[in-house]
Amino acid sequence: MMLTDPREIEEAHYARYYARKPVTIVRGRGALVYDEKDNEFVDCTGAYGTCIVGHAHPQVVEAINDQAKKLIACHGSTYNDARATFVSKLSTVLPVPLQRFFLTNSGAEALECAIKVARKATGKRKIVAIKGAFHGKTHGALSATWDPKYRRSFEPLVPDFAHIPFNDSETAKETITNDTAAVLVEPIQGEGGIRVPTRDWMALLSDLIHDAGGLLIADEVQTGFGRTGKMFACEHLGIEPDVLCLGKGIASGLPIGATASTDEAMSALTVGEHTSTFGGNPVVCAAGSATIDVLLSERLVDNAAKVGEYFKAGLLELKGTHRIVRDVRGLGLMLAVETRFDVHEILLQALHEGVLLLDAGRNILRFLPPLCMEASHVDRVLSVLSGVLEREEVAKQLS
Ligand SMILES: Cc1ncc(COP(=O)(O)O)c(C=O)c1O
Repeated sequence: MMLTDPREIEEAHYARYYARKPVTIVRGRGALVYDEKDNEFVDCTGAYGTCIVGHAHPQVVEAINDQAKKLIACHGSTYNDARATFVSKLSTVLPVPLQRFFLTNSGAEALECAIKVARKATGKRKIVAIKGAFHGKTHGALSATWDPKYRRSFEPLVPDFAHIPFNDSETAKETITNDTAAVLVEPIQGEGGIRVPTRDWMALLSDLIHDAGGLLIADEVQTGFGRTGKMFACEHLGIEPDVLCLGKGIASGLPIGATASTDEAMSALTVGEHTSTFGGNPVVCAAGSATIDVLLSERLVDNAAKVGEYFKAGLLELKGTHRIVRDVRGLGLMLAVETRFDVHEILLQALHEGVLLLDAGRNILRFLPPLCMEASHVDRVLSVLSGVLEREEVAKQLS
């Protein structure tokens, strides 16, 4: 029998690698998405943080259409106008020393490039990453990712990676030595539960790796492009990385990653040592250019700061009234609510009431909505969450 329901078809044929939510999303607009029966949801996942300017932004859609009519494929071995426009726009938003880019198809690939650049540019091997970190699931990126549940079945991974505890200065001093090629750090840990490090610790990491003659790699795949209320989260923490990795929303949800670096470090790799068939694809680049235009013209970074503050204040109020909430943290529109129990039931109930939520580990709700989110969307989310938390407290006999 021919299957017609998308859920049944995916269940029958797609690899069972994702923990699925029982919903089929078929369209989106701004901060809202819709299922096949046209039920509306406030999208607090932002398609895992990729949909920064909002779903189906008309300017992005037009740019994709226009480019697709002109040229869909163009390998990096020839020049291309859409790619040139995108890297030129990227150069205007990235910090001055980071003006050379390599374009990939995912965040993990941006990390792969960064690791190779660090090793070749310094002539050293050791990469120091952080406990709790997430950098992706390809073998190089996975070697920097912390959680044993992602790693254990695939060991041995790439050698010479070490993990130091988050916010711990002593171990950092012991581990970052003259044989270290790079310190790799998320300015705010995303998958790890939206954990914001101290400025002092970040400054120490930066000093230690530079004194050791290595590079500071910032993984801004999740935090970059305005998510935290500044263009880059490094700005909150006062650090200036030598290599910066981007991904997620920089082309409004089309597959992309970017490694940005100084000319000197990036030029350590020579012709042919690192390429990608699809990296720098013209349609993706056109979407990326439109994304930067919209981000700037609609002042979405400021909106992330303003609406994020409003959202966080509302979540803190929920913490004040619901014992089930243990902590609220984050910056801009990168927020988390840590609860005393598994959040699975909360996710399901909220979905039922028109709010699409994301988790980050067993007991953490993570909020990565589009940066165009409005206060009225936040009010809807807070009202649904308040009711769901109330019922969970009764179920868990906390109230
Ligand atoms: C900080 C960080 N780095 C890297 C990645 C990997 O990106 P991708 O899933 O596009 O490979 C992610 C994905 O969530 C991430 O949050």
